[in-house]
Amino acid sequence: MNLIKKILVAPATVLALWAVTAQATTDEAIAERLKPVGEVCVMGEECKGVGAVAVAAGGAARTADDIVAKHCGACHTPGILGAPMIGDTAAWKARASNGLDGLLANAISGLNAMPPKGTCADCSDDELREAIQKMSGL
Ligand code: HEC
Repeated sequence: MNLIKKILVAPATVLALWAVTAQATTDEAIAERLKPVGEVCVMGEECKGVGAVAVAAGGAARTADDIVAKHCGACHTPGILGAPMIGDTAAWKARASNGLDGLLANAISGLNAMPPKGTCADCSDDELREAIQKMSGL
């Protein structure tokens, strides 16, 4: 490849990459942006994001209310992106054809715009189950 071609091709590649990135406005990207600051810290990992506060290892026990307030409420209080709203038992019931276990399984793995573990990466299954019970009233 001669020099002129190289000069022409390089910016074209950059432009093409930019175009692809600019269109990556997926639900996941939106969910990522909606994440409250400070919730991207996982115990034992370096914190990402400005103003993030590390979760102290072995910190005080959390209640279901704490988890819902800190991790789930951002989406489930306003019901954004199709999230069933806190207290809307009918909406939760409609999803619970496989009972709480089914809801828990989807909460752990994530479902469409619902991030895995609802962004509470260090939540135990029991903690997630209690948070779901709290929000759904089931
Ligand atoms: C970034 C937004 C967001 C956060 C944070 C979030 N959720 Fe969700 N959640 C959703 C959305 C959106 C849905 C609906 C997904 C769908 O059906 O497409 C959902 C659905 C669910 C469901 C129903 C799954 C099913 O089987 O239908 C459960 C259970 C759930 N969330 C639990 C939680 C818990 C527990 C937390 C907190 C630890 C949490 N979510 C945090 C967005 C969120």
